[in-house]
Amino acid sequence: MQFNKDFVFGTATSSYQIEGAHNEDGRTPSIWDMFCDIDGRVFEKHNGDVACDHYHRFEEDIQHIKKLGVDTYRFSIAWPRIFPAKGEFNPAGMAFYKTLATRLREEGIKPAVTLYHWDLPMWAHEEGGWVNRDSVDWFLDYAKVCFDELDGIVDSWITHNEPWCAGFLGYHVGVHAPGHRDMNEAVRAVHHMLLSHGKAVELLKQELKSTTPIGITLNLSPVYAKTDSANDRLAQNNSDGYSNRWFLDPVFKGQYPVDMMNLFSKYVHSYDFIKPGDMETISTECDFFGINFYSRGLVEFSAANDFMTVAAYSDYDKTGMGWDIAPNEFKDLIRRLRNEYTDLPIIITENGAAYDDVLENGEVHDDKRIDYVKKHLTAVSDLNDEGMNIAGYYLWSLMDNFEWSFGYEKRFGILYIDFETQERVWKDSAKWYAGVIADHKAKHADSVEA
Ligand code: FCB
Repeated sequence: MQFNKDFVFGTATSSYQIEGAHNEDGRTPSIWDMFCDIDGRVFEKHNGDVACDHYHRFEEDIQHIKKLGVDTYRFSIAWPRIFPAKGEFNPAGMAFYKTLATRLREEGIKPAVTLYHWDLPMWAHEEGGWVNRDSVDWFLDYAKVCFDELDGIVDSWITHNEPWCAGFLGYHVGVHAPGHRDMNEAVRAVHHMLLSHGKAVELLKQELKSTTPIGITLNLSPVYAKTDSANDRLAQNNSDGYSNRWFLDPVFKGQYPVDMMNLFSKYVHSYDFIKPGDMETISTECDFFGINFYSRGLVEFSAANDFMTVAAYSDYDKTGMGWDIAPNEFKDLIRRLRNEYTDLPIIITENGAAYDDVLENGEVHDDKRIDYVKKHLTAVSDLNDEGMNIAGYYLWSLMDNFEWSFGYEKRFGILYIDFETQERVWKDSAKWYAGVIADHKAKHADSVEA
């Protein structure tokens, strides 16, 4: 694999998954604090109260990031630190991110900041959360303060991380906070998230006249049909519509897919929440497109299931999440995006794998993770050879952390965290990734001299 000189290597985390310090410096609960508190929602009732204690250990973590040699580090801001109550700005919460971003820059690492990685403040939830259209204004107030305070020390902005998870897993499937099971709510929540994305982009570019790159991150999963039967292909179409097109079409084409609107209308009695001008705002041009890629989907027809589709048995090798390892399908996905959706630079804002890591004598031999990342990085390199313009890659994750409903049971980190002692241990994958980056830099340093 090879990458051009400007290709950026990074690693990623998110606020609730690593910070801890859940009630410090004025932070109030988010929907994830609430969700963790409900019996049966999160593995062994784990929560983010302490997590990786990154809030207190960020200096040490910055040194690990620096040692990895990455160009950039992606983290998210916890909204309830910035607005602990409606309309109440908390400078103490902002101070943490100012220091973090400043220190990263001092060490030569570019901060890439996500505004919304799922920790909606409880005060907003109590007023209807994302289902309430006012959430767009609340988000804009929050975005404005972040832009005012941090633009200039942040190198790129991501408005939302994976609205599919926040919207559909949170309000339809119910396995993420706030844990609702209501498709009518879910499509509204998604609409307001997407609208708040578009408005934040307009705010930064048009009103604040900033040139800092801004984009959105979608999790995309190419879906395949178990067989070539008409029924299975229908299942594929519907699953693709639910996972991918419901987000890609509004963002890049300014419209929701009509087939899916019809299908959803079993639950969604009216689309009157889409107001004039919304779709133009949602499809406002960004500077890059972020993609989180983990796996593919394989589906078959099922009359009994929502939208006539259900996951089919797949014999692919799997990660510790039980997800198919599918670098070739990743290539299909990127080619399709280029054909059907966008010419914007693509950034892989997350890719990585969970495995059952074992710490032995201070070492973690996670060959499978190395293999997974190598396969996907090779795919990125191949795609760029085809002219696909993937501008960067962020490995998920810098360290083991709170993996949402799986709690601390699933480890995605390249640093192993001992959650008793908070010790950080470099897994073999971290050493390997540092090596890939060092080789890349050495190669391009030579080419400058030559
Ligand atoms: C993504 C999330 C991230 C992490 C990885 C494994 O869906 O954005 O927070 O949980 O999956």
